[in-house]
This record gives sequence, structure tokens and C-alpha cells, in this order.
Amino acid sequence: MLSASLVLLATLFAGMASAAESSSYPLGQRSIFSDRATAERLKPVGSVCVEGEECGSQVAAAEGSGEPRSGEEVYNTGCAACHASGAAGAPKLGDTAAWAPRIDKGIETLVKHAYEGFNAMPAKGMCSNCSEDEIHAAVEYIVDHSK
Ligand code: HEC
Repeated sequence: MLSASLVLLATLFAGMASAAESSSYPLGQRSIFSDRATAERLKPVGSVCVEGEECGSQVAAAEGSGEPRSGEEVYNTGCAACHASGAAGAPKLGDTAAWAPRIDKGIETLVKHAYEGFNAMPAKGMCSNCSEDEIHAAVEYIVDHSK
């Protein structure tokens, strides 16, 4: 009687142990698979925005209507932060004395400097989704209001 129940117990334990073992494998595997699946799911999202500027221009292309913004719009959103207040030593809009020697360099040079950056003037005025035409329009807007 006693030995019979011992055998029964042993069988039970063995059964539990193997049940635990066999259930721990698929679990372990599943977590590996789900990690991989998560990485796969995240990959396309991550790779879209990894390259800073490109990400910005993709966003711009997606949301933009294709219509270039006017010089005034670009100035107000991208340039006024510095050129209205004179922050960082920026020549202020309407400050004819500050702009006269710059205007003498010619509009093409000013556009190039605004687009590529010039000393403390950041490239494109940090407007990463501004096109060269939009920067050109913004420079013309500034120049027109500063002479
Ligand atoms: C973070 C501040 C900042 C922003 C934003 C900014 N600028 Fe400037 N900008 C400057 C500073 C500072 C200078 C003076 C650089 C110098 O002469 O050393 C300058 C100079 C310029 C000049 C004269 C360049 C020359 O050759 O003399 C132009 C043109 C200009 N900015 C256009 C723009 C336009 C257009 C925008 C917006 C798209 C813009 N800036 C946004 C700071 C800024």
C-alpha cells in the first residue's frame, strides 16, 4: 500500500517535472521570437527618422501642399526668432545701418549665407524643411524691409 502510493507520488512528481520542463521551453522560445518580432516591427519606424535632415524633409513632403511659403511666412516662422530681436548678434529687420554693408554683398551671397550658414547664422536659419527658394524669398523679405 505504502509502496504503491510512493510510486504514485514519484510518478506525479516526474509528471510535474516534465510538464514544467516542456512548458518552459516553448515559453523561452516564444520570448526569443517575440523579441525578434518586436525588433522587426520597430525597424522600419526607426530607420525612417535616423538620418535627421532626411526625416525632416520626408515629413515636409508628406504634410506640404507643394506650395512654397512666402518670404514673410518663412521669416516669421524661421528667422524672426533672431532677426527681430537681434539675438545672437543677428542684424535686425529694419536696421538699415546693419544691413547696408550686407546688402552690398549682393542678394546671391546673402541667400548662400542664409542657406549654408554664416558665422553665428545657422544654415537655413534652422528651418530644416525650407527649400532654397523659400530661403531666397525670406532673404528678399528681410532685405526689402531693411533698406
Ligand atoms: C539662431 C539665430 C538666427 C536665425 C534663426 C536666423 N539667423 Fe540669420 N543671422 C544670424 C546671425 C547671428 C547673423 C550674423 C552673422 C554674421 O554676420 O556673423 C545672421 C545673418 C544673416 C544674413 C546676412 C548674411 C551675410 O552674409 O551678411 C542673412 C541674409 C540672414 N541672416 C538670413 C536669415 C534668414 C533668411 C533666416 C530664416 C530662414 C535667418 N537668417 C535665421 C542669426 C540667425
